[in-house]
Amino acid sequence: MASDNGSSREHFVFPKWANLLLPLIIIGAVGTMPYMHALVPLVASPTTLNVGYQPVQPVPYSHELHVDELGIDCRYCHTSVESAAFAAIPPTATCMNCHHAIQNDSEKIAPIIESYETGKPIEWVKVHDLPDYVYFNHAVHVSGAGVSCVECHGRVDKMGEAGVHTVENLSMSWCIECHRNAAPNLRPRDLVYDLAWQRPADADSDYGKKLAELHNVPSSRNLTDCSTCHR
Ligand code: HEC
Ligand code: HEC
Ligand code: HEC
Ligand code: HEC
Ligand code: HEC
Repeated sequence: MASDNGSSREHFVFPKWANLLLPLIIIGAVGTMPYMHALVPLVASPTTLNVGYQPVQPVPYSHELHVDELGIDCRYCHTSVESAAFAAIPPTATCMNCHHAIQNDSEKIAPIIESYETGKPIEWVKVHDLPDYVYFNHAVHVSGAGVSCVECHGRVDKMGEAGVHTVENLSMSWCIECHRNAAPNLRPRDLVYDLAWQRPADADSDYGKKLAELHNVPSSRNLTDCSTCHR
């Protein structure tokens, strides 16, 4: 009985009934959606989700040019990524810091100038979009654990004028796969924004475990609990 007591104490934080109830709540919410029938094939084969999705954007903005060639840091534009749940898409004013003067007679820059003069924001099309019933938070991954943008978004610094595309399907099983064993995906926090960085060749299997300890990463048991992502 001693082990039973142990586990009920742990369940005090995330009560067991909540784990049983949550799927019902989620399924209830999902059931009211008009595309319920479409979920069945998605659950059966999550790999068919939208890897490679690359919507056409209103401006041919190139990460490769601005990040890789000009060396602008992700946080110059995605200002809230290290401190908030959302990464933030930059307002026109951020682009105008430079494009007031640079290429301001170019056709490709014209929509930026127009947006600036009319006050109408540029309508960037969302590339990554989780359903509303899933909770996600950039800051805890990026500034907390030390998970780089590249683990989830790929080499954005090599994506050109055709725009950003998805490299992962953002399915539940993809999230959980990392949550079960996050250590191999961690790096020192100051290297999170360096997408080209690789672990030193002589890093042993303890490398990630030590970072997990240093960064206070919760146990895989807590990270795979339903209430972690469905609140
Ligand atoms: C000069 C500004 C700027 C910089 C610097 C920048 N981005 Fe972006 N980013 C944008 C704009 C504008 C968009 C929206 C257009 C698009 O999706 O292509 C965007 C879109 C994205 C998206 C897709 C957002 C969505 O809708 O899902 C990701 C992911 C992203 N950026 C990651 C990065 C990473 C990682 C870095 C650093 C390596 C970075 N960005 C640096 C301006 C910037
Ligand atoms: C730190 C300065 C800086 C910022 C901020 C910046 N750009 Fe640029 N951008 C440049 C430079 C430099 C070039 C290259 C100009 C050249 O090719 O001579 C450029 C080129 C471009 C081009 C290609 C222009 C052409 O005619 O080939 C587009 C489109 C563009 N930027 C969009 C944006 C958007 C959208 C934003 C805001 C999300 C932005 N830029 C923010 C410096 C900047
Ligand atoms: C653990 C995975 C993961 C990491 C690490 C990560 N992202 Fe994201 N990112 C996502 C997911 C998932 C979404 C979609 C969020 C949604 O729809 O609610 C997203 C969305 C975005 C967006 C669109 C705006 C938004 O917040 O929805 C931008 C921009 C972005 N990420 C940039 C970055 C940058 C820059 C980094 C690194 C500093 C980064 N991301 C690190 C998973 C990640
Ligand atoms: C590459 C690894 C990786 C991927 C992929 C990943 N995560 Fe995480 N996630 C982590 C790590 C590591 C932590 C622990 C962060 C901490 O608290 O230090 C975490 C923590 C979390 C938390 C707890 C945040 C909090 O406020 O306590 C949530 C929620 C979460 N992740 C949601 C998601 C979702 C949803 C996805 C898929 C869209 C996802 N994660 C994909 C590594 C990952
Ligand atoms: C690490 C984050 C994470 C955890 C932990 C998690 N989920 Fe999810 N869940 C997601 C994401 C992301 C989606 C959206 C998947 C998609 O869009 O296909 C999702 C979708 C769902 C759906 C909608 C059906 C579907 O698959 O599209 C149900 C039901 C669900 N989760 C139940 C659960 C239950 C029950 C648990 C606990 C055993 C759980 N989830 C744990 C991230 C998580």
